[in-house]
Amino acid sequence: MKIKSAEFVVSNSEVAKCPKNPIPEYAFIGRSNVGKSSLINMLTDRRSLAKTSGRPGKTQLINHFIINDNWYLVDLPGYGYARVSKTSKKKFQKFITNYFEQRQQLVSAFVLVDIRHKPQPIDLEFMQYLGENGIPFGIIFTKADKLKPKAIDKQVDEYCQELLKTWEELPPYFITSSSKKIGQEEVLNFIEATNEE
Ligand code: GTP
Ligand code: MG
Repeated sequence: MKIKSAEFVVSNSEVAKCPKNPIPEYAFIGRSNVGKSSLINMLTDRRSLAKTSGRPGKTQLINHFIINDNWYLVDLPGYGYARVSKTSKKKFQKFITNYFEQRQQLVSAFVLVDIRHKPQPIDLEFMQYLGENGIPFGIIFTKADKLKPKAIDKQVDEYCQELLKTWEELPPYFITSSSKKIGQEEVLNFIEATNEE
């Protein structure tokens, strides 16, 4: 898919205030600092469409971007960020779960995981939650530039083995690097294919 246009639409903390235009939507979720915002910039070939930071906790709201005037990309705050207070953590969790449970036009979520890490309970639990709520998702391994090809294979293999302990089938998954621009075509092709269904 060619990205002809990519524009910021709106930021907010309530699913009721998300754009009303009923076009297909794809949301990016995962731990703080995993690279969600960077991935959105990489996918859209825009350097600073979504705001990124070396410090976790940068994205705090639900951010809608409209792509090619016919689908939305959604950048979400990360989960598992320890430095916010318990109350704001709860508020965060609430609006994120409201978003996933209420957003009718969501075609698929992407759960981002850092390719260098072993499967983390928080990510596996979030995938479980999506499954229980009937929300399709894919896994995006991020920061592949940090590992050599053999180590990438090993990490992905281990992750798949872990998933197969609880899932009958593996979700679609993608190996990406925003800094080296790896995986752009694969993710965009997946979006294009599901967008047309
Ligand atoms: P929050 O909004 O805080 O939840 O974080 P995020 O998941 O949106 O992460 P963000 O895109 O802001 O990136 C976090 C840090 O990881 C930044 O310092 C990025 O430069 C770095 N980063 C993101 N993607 C990659 C990548 O593919 N490779 C490398 N080496 N670094 C990356
Ligand atoms: Mg972010």
